[in-house]
Amino acid sequence: TVVVADTGDIDAIRKLKPVDCTTNPTLLLKAAGMEGLAHIVREAVTWGGTQNGSREAVISAVADRLAVSVGAELTKLVPGRVSTEVDANLSFDTAATIEKAREIIRAYKDRGIERDRILIKIASTWEGIQAAKVLQAEGIDCNLTLLFSLAQAMACAEAGVFLISPFVGRILDWHKKAEGKDFGPEEDPGVISVRSIYAAYKSKGIKTIVMGASFRSAAEVEALAGCDRLTISPALLEELDKDQGKLERKMSPDAYGTV
Ligand code: E4P
Repeated sequence: TVVVADTGDIDAIRKLKPVDCTTNPTLLLKAAGMEGLAHIVREAVTWGGTQNGSREAVISAVADRLAVSVGAELTKLVPGRVSTEVDANLSFDTAATIEKAREIIRAYKDRGIERDRILIKIASTWEGIQAAKVLQAEGIDCNLTLLFSLAQAMACAEAGVFLISPFVGRILDWHKKAEGKDFGPEEDPGVISVRSIYAAYKSKGIKTIVMGASFRSAAEVEALAGCDRLTISPALLEELDKDQGKLERKMSPDAYGTV
């Protein structure tokens, strides 16, 4: 299992030394801090003025600048990939998602960072998956996120997506609410969902990488040890590190048994 840090926090990455890292707007805001954010807002507002940009264009420019400026720092710290998210407001617009992804790749290129260090993170809507198909054909690798079902996973595989991030914790959250009870890791509907996607992919020889995401506990992470990659918050990585070897022990694709 390749360990990925689900954070934009530079200090945490220095300490935890993950192979890759994944970001989203919430994580980036935390990582930039008030000073960093103020600087980026000033830059983007100036840019908006020169472009006669709309309010939406300026907001979008702030988000992009934040993602790429923190992302560029992160590429210096991890040997692998940094996932950078396309504005979620574009999740139902294939053409706009494609254009935004190309812009992000260009912005990284301007900072001397090649596309093979980046994964463009896109929501697994139908429109998002179609955008990923086009981007993958151009050599831009994508991470399809907000993925909750085998159906979405199979559509991503058909589109030739590089990596999917099936969610665990959000499925658990909803089942807890709906059923009014807690679940142990073996009965956890989020864990079961990722295991079934993993099993289907491997049995069909699908090359798309499976990266479990959205964890609520170390027990959920351990239950998915053996998955291709797992993206884990610094807090849970610290907790797992106290019990070193828990992930390594189960690092075989057979670890899930029959799913
Ligand atoms: C990962 O790529 C996701 O952004 C993250 O794991 C989402 O987790 P959440 O369900 O805690 O928001």
